[in-house]
This record gives sequence, structure tokens and C-alpha cells, in this order.
Amino acid sequence: MKTIALDIRHALYFAEKEYDALKDAATAASSTLDAGTGAGADFTGWVKLPSETSAETVARINATAARLREACDYVVCVGIGGSYLGAKAVVTALQDNFADHYLPRPSEPKLLFAGQNISGEYLEELCRLLEGKRFGIIVISKSGTTTEPAIAFRELKDLLEKQAGKEKAKDLIVAVTDGRRGALRTMADKEGYETYVIPDNVGGRFSVLTPVGLLPIAVAGHDIATLLQGAKDMEAETAHPGSDNLAEKYARMRNALYQSGKKIEILVNFNPKLHFLAEWWKQLYGESEGKNGKGIFPASVDLTTDLHSMGQWIQDGERTIFETVLSVRKTPVERRIRMNAENLDGINYLAGKTVDEVNAQAELGTLLAHEEGGVPVVRIELPAIDEYSLGQLIYFFEKACGVSGYILGVNPFDQPGVEAYKKNMFALLEKPGYEEESKAIKEKLNK
Ligand code: PA5
Repeated sequence: MKTIALDIRHALYFAEKEYDALKDAATAASSTLDAGTGAGADFTGWVKLPSETSAETVARINATAARLREACDYVVCVGIGGSYLGAKAVVTALQDNFADHYLPRPSEPKLLFAGQNISGEYLEELCRLLEGKRFGIIVISKSGTTTEPAIAFRELKDLLEKQAGKEKAKDLIVAVTDGRRGALRTMADKEGYETYVIPDNVGGRFSVLTPVGLLPIAVAGHDIATLLQGAKDMEAETAHPGSDNLAEKYARMRNALYQSGKKIEILVNFNPKLHFLAEWWKQLYGESEGKNGKGIFPASVDLTTDLHSMGQWIQDGERTIFETVLSVRKTPVERRIRMNAENLDGINYLAGKTVDEVNAQAELGTLLAHEEGGVPVVRIELPAIDEYSLGQLIYFFEKACGVSGYILGVNPFDQPGVEAYKKNMFALLEKPGYEEESKAIKEKLNK
């Protein structure tokens, strides 16, 4: 099967000195990650996850997915951050652009998401949609205590129990959570839900290849064995520190660019199906590297759409950015532009070409323009948007992220900064145990 490829030629000459100087650091970072001896090593279980996931695990996930597909017209995935973005990214990439606008068919439920925000309107409208419908819930939280999914799950569970009855509802709820700790674990055990365990040594944003991502992806009807195979092949490809493999190369290039003053990385796609892949990538890199006053800011654009809004800035704004372009080699359709006798729109010169051929020239033209405008461009070429390529890409980004974080000198596997908003929110909402903080925050607001 074809593999993803990395092209750094359009970026290298912007920071060649820095890139050369980082060779040993990249090898050391890669060795440390593989040996599990670096900062946050307790959370590097994902490194060998693809090769260690058994056929039995895949079969069990597929069996649960088949059960939910049979029993439901809608399956709601409740989760946020790493317990949401991976599944959303893969399912959006693999499904029809307009999948959400078709009605569910027997054994082909619609996958919906909740608990990824705290909007009352979102929850109200979701519950309205699900009223009287056959639905199930996959509730996902590693800690089992996250507020956003807890609110959504409470509401959805109530609705499901009202509609299906408490006993039947138990069969329609699956919990993916910690093996021992957390409110969700306690509730799942008490209620008797089917559960999947998120391994202790895999953090949220690295968990898409555990049941966190695999179960929703299987429920959406996609081939998780092939997804894992792609990841497994990339695990093998990147398993040799110092071999200048794809992950080391990308990690080294982005750190070299960072050192040369490029503080923002924009992940660029030319296919709307990859929009949420960029959202997943932003969490992966932002939460892993943005600490101790350091880290590349991860941003993203969908092109050519955003060339008509962000294009000016990218071409001509402050020269602190570089781009990483996700380029797709092959799309499954051949939609050709037709000749028109009147040619009022003036695009007959495109007649006979496929829409994707035009897109490819837009991509090349953009690359050349941005490079000329002082924007280094890294290219990642995907053979296609399918399970195998996505599996490779996910693992590649994860591995490169670990290596990159170690080169940068941070612990890529913690997220202490995420707690700050929670502390304030709990204090403002007077959560038991936060009495002191409540008092302090109110005094601060009344000043
Ligand atoms: O990567 C992370 O650790 C976070 O983004 C979490 O995934 C997110 O906060 C959700 O946490 P949990 O799965 O514990 O509900």
C-alpha cells in the first residue's frame, strides 16, 4: 500500500543552519521517546499502541459497534478535547460531505456529537432532534469527571431512559473511561453499562487509536482494522531513532523554523473533509507544546475557501508563519467541467479538466506564491483519504509531536494550563470544595 510522504524542500532553505544543528537533538528526542525515559514517560503508551492492539480488541469493538448500528438510528458521542476530536476528525474525513443531510438508514445510524461545548441551545436542539428517535450514547471521558460531557450525558441519559425505559437504556449506553477512577466509572459499574478502558498510559489527545476513537469510527461504519494497520506501518517506519524518518524530519524542521522566528504553523488543506483533522492536530500540538512560555502556535485554514479571507494575511502579513500543507494525491471522483456554448462566465478554458485538476493547480499556485512571500511550506502528501492513509497520518503526527516536544524542551504529555479555567469556573459556580476560591474570585470581581 502507498505511504504518506514528507517534502521539506520548500521550507528547508529558510532555516537550513538551524535544521542541520538539530540533527543530534532530534535523534536524542526520538531515542528518549522510544525508550520511555523522558518527561511524562508515564503517558507514552500510545507509542506502541498500534502494534499492541490485538485482533480480539478490534473484534470486540466491531461487535459493540454492530449492536449499536442495529439498535439505533442515531448514536451520540459525548466527550470533549481528546475524547472528541479524533473520532470527529476521522469520521468527517471518511464520510460523504453531506452525510448529515441524509436520513439514517437501517443499520447505518447517524453519528452525532455532544458534550464538546456548554451551549444550552445545542443541547436543547439535540434533544429535540432525538425526541421519539431510536438512539444510543457512547460517553467518553478518561478522567470521568469533565464538566462539559457530564452535563450533556445527564440530559441525554434522562431522555433515553424516558423513551426506551431504564432497563433498555442500559443496553444503549457504552462508557469509555478509566479502568478504576472517576464518576463515569462509578456510574457505569453501578448501572451495568458495557465499558471500554482507556489505558492509564495514554493521554486524551493521543487516544484516538484506543476505543475512544475506534468505537465511534466503527459505529460510523469505517474499517478500524485498516486504520490501525496504517498506524502500525507508520509505527514501524518511525521506530529507528536517528534514521531521519518522517517523524524526526518533521519535528526537526518545525523546530528549526521556530528557532528562525516562525512562531505560527498553519495546517493547510485543500479538501473540506480534512477540516476536523486540523482541529485534532491543533489540540495535539497546542496542548503538547504550548507551555513554559514556549511553543509554536498551531492554526489552520481550509483552502481555497480561506484564501478569500485569510489569503492576504498569509501572503503579506507579519512574516512569523510557516505552512504545513496536507496534499491528497488521489480523490475517488472525476468530476469534469463542461464546455458551455455561451461561455458567459468565461471559464471555457477549463472545460474538459476535472475540478480536482483545477484544485491541484490552485494548490501549486498557492505554494509558489506563499513561498515567494516568505512563507516556508512543508508538504505532507497523502495517497488518498482512506482508513489506511489516515491511520498513517495520525500516528505520524503523534510521533512527531512527541519528538518535537522533547526537542523544544517541554513535557509534551501534560497539560497543567488547562486547569486554570476550570478552577475559576468551579469557584464561580460554587462547586463544593472550592469555597476559598469562590470567596477570592468574588472579591476580585467586585473590586
Ligand atoms: O488531552 C487531554 O488530556 C484533554 O484535552 C482531554 O482530552 C479533555 O480535557 C477531556 O478529558 P476527559 O477525557 O478526561 O473528559
